[in-house]
Amino acid sequence: MKIAILPGDGIGPEITKQAVKILDAFDLTKDIEYAPIGGSAFELHNDPLPASTLDLAKKADAILLGAVGDWKYDQLPREKRPEQGLLRIRQGLNLFANLRPAIMFPELTHASSLKASVVSGLDIMIIRELTGDIYFGQPRGISVNENNEREGVNTMRYAESEIERIAHVAFQTAQRRKQKLCSVDKANVLETTELWREIFTNIGKSYPDVKLSHMYVDNAAMQLIRDPKQFDVIATGNIFGDILSDQASMLTGSIGMLPSASLDANNKGMYEPSHGSAPDIAGKDTANPLATILSLAMMFKYTFKDEAKYLLIENAVRQVLQDGYRTQDIFSTDTKLIGCEQMGDLVVDRLEGSL
Ligand code: IPM
Ligand code: MG
Repeated sequence: MKIAILPGDGIGPEITKQAVKILDAFDLTKDIEYAPIGGSAFELHNDPLPASTLDLAKKADAILLGAVGDWKYDQLPREKRPEQGLLRIRQGLNLFANLRPAIMFPELTHASSLKASVVSGLDIMIIRELTGDIYFGQPRGISVNENNEREGVNTMRYAESEIERIAHVAFQTAQRRKQKLCSVDKANVLETTELWREIFTNIGKSYPDVKLSHMYVDNAAMQLIRDPKQFDVIATGNIFGDILSDQASMLTGSIGMLPSASLDANNKGMYEPSHGSAPDIAGKDTANPLATILSLAMMFKYTFKDEAKYLLIENAVRQVLQDGYRTQDIFSTDTKLIGCEQMGDLVVDRLEGSL
């Protein structure tokens, strides 16, 4: 079991460190290897995804990623920017299926900006296609057009096979949950997603136990705020999934709680918190490591098929929240404010208590 750790930028190193403490508690740190990605890789190798990092990731069974990005790199040419490291590793490893669960821990119901009655008990799984769509479509770029003004171009495109494989992941995920799948598109305007809807409908015929519905993305954005509990599994393309998953995260109180898994066809995966690198709080020991710790839990569930360890980690997180400990993003006056390191230590402590 080889695990590659890519801490990345900003708060990435401090949050991944807390997840490594969990691996240590399971006595699983022998086979971990570290490699740089994003801005830190650019500093060392002039490349946000050095070949050595991609090689290590290819050899590993699973990858744990912190976060990439820092405003100080925003002026670099696009191919040198930290985000390109992330996009290239997703594409290089064929991690087309991005699972972003939005789960409400009962202790955090009041941290949400929505009414408790709207969000309590929330448990949604967003499945975002991750290696296609306007993120990768050609042609793209900024050039001078026939009117002699600059013009930006990106291309939304999906091939049938790309839609089919993510549809199978979505239907199979729905089978293991409440057999309810909502496919989100913009088929009233965009042909790419008209094809998406047609293929989801066809593939749905081989999953008669799953109730498939379709929703336009603008309506989905509205329904997620109006009545999020109507959803169980949501499947959508890369750009819509990027936006809707950030939105769903805030239903649960803080984006600092949301893990994610990005899987290939064989369940090899890269696991990362859904939040970014938060350079403004980097190195201050105030970041919330729980999204990263829960991402590690997902690694055990999806790549190593070890549901027991998944539950052990999730329960340890629950216990720490029940005991009233909070990082600043989920803090309220009746709780105990702690830092990133201490949050990691407490989760390890509760975990060791149940081993
Ligand atoms: C995400 C992020 C990335 C994305 C950025 C950092 C490239 O927002 O993982 O959601 O757009 O996919
Ligand atoms: Mg995003």
